[in-house]
Amino acid sequence: MPDWLITGCSELLTLRGAVPRRGRTLGELGIIRDGALLVRDDRIVAVGRRRRIERLPEARRASKLDLGGRVALPGFVDSHTHLVFPASRVDEYEQRVSGKTYAQIARAGGGIRATVNAVRRALPKTLSERASTHLREFAAHGTTTIEAKSGYGLDWTSELKILCALQQLNQDQPLDIVETFLGAHIVPPEYRGRPDRFVELLVRGWIPAVATAGLAEFCDVFCDPGAFTVPQARRILKAGRACGLMPRIHAEQFRRTGAAQLAIEVEAASADHLEKVNGSDIRALALSNVTCTLLPGCSFHLGSPHYAPARELIDCGAIVALATDFNPGTSPTVSMPMILSLACAQMRMTPAEAIAAATINPAYSLRQHGRVGSLEAGKYADLAAFDVTDYREIPYYFGVNLCSLTMKRGLIVHSEKP
Ligand code: NIG
Ligand code: FE
Repeated sequence: MPDWLITGCSELLTLRGAVPRRGRTLGELGIIRDGALLVRDDRIVAVGRRRRIERLPEARRASKLDLGGRVALPGFVDSHTHLVFPASRVDEYEQRVSGKTYAQIARAGGGIRATVNAVRRALPKTLSERASTHLREFAAHGTTTIEAKSGYGLDWTSELKILCALQQLNQDQPLDIVETFLGAHIVPPEYRGRPDRFVELLVRGWIPAVATAGLAEFCDVFCDPGAFTVPQARRILKAGRACGLMPRIHAEQFRRTGAAQLAIEVEAASADHLEKVNGSDIRALALSNVTCTLLPGCSFHLGSPHYAPARELIDCGAIVALATDFNPGTSPTVSMPMILSLACAQMRMTPAEAIAAATINPAYSLRQHGRVGSLEAGKYADLAAFDVTDYREIPYYFGVNLCSLTMKRGLIVHSEKP
């Protein structure tokens, strides 16, 4: 692998500084104009003004990469995805456009259940190939680290099929994948009417087995009237924590259930969605270390007017992150730039806040902030360059991919020749 001297950054957004970012510090991007980076192997060795970096002795030997006046920033960290699934649910999309709700479709046997049926039938190879294609698309939009959940198998063999596919993908392709066990996505058909028996199986069987085999770092629960209750989620997340899996939770998406308060109680790494939080939830989250991961792609794709109250969360001091929630039911997008556009236009985040919420804060929520999320000496050389001269143009130009180069651990994994 060559060493790189990267120059030609009209703006180099380093994101150096406090971790995690809260309140006013969320918008501090640590911008260096006419910035440069020196990369050795998979790491950043030096970051600063071009004049200084070019004079370093190692810079002379390094291969030169001139970004031609583009904006460079840390690769996006997408901290909530359901990466592995075999097919779209485009029929449901059309039904929703014609007036059916997500809940009506789920009650009729569609929704998550439809994808579960498809995963159970799918060959591991089919799942991996599709996920690999998506990973290339993630990279092409500037993402270099993603979290990925199980939860579309919901029998032991099929959950393993997903988790093992993720492990293999983590080895075979360049992006870093952080795995989450979401055995508690919905109550599987075999346990219909007996949810507590299924919770028992998760707590006594699957969660310890996943942790022992090192198949996941986090444990997640979908806490919603169509899925699991707060007491059930509490049992599951506590069992996960007892085995070393840190909690994450799908909270307050369609209905307010008290899941955000549970996230605080179990010291979850992240509470995700939060479209339906109230004022006391916001104040409590702001006083906690739980990252509030907002997923505006869901509201957009479902045609819902309910976006999470990003402004209030930020202004109260909560740790806010953004993610795609890439999945076939509520948010079929791999594009973090599109998520930034939604965050700005629909949730009133500033472009600077949106960028920090897509890099350093999600890195913190995945406990990867020592390695990724900012461009600082010692961290992985994970960066994305955009074909703009002002970083605010990244969310401004929506629906077009302006990411012209993505580097992951010093390797160019996406390049659009100028
Ligand atoms: O994060 N809310 C639960 N899980 C996904 C939706 C999954 C699906 O519809 O397939 C979400 O929105
Ligand atoms: Fe999700």
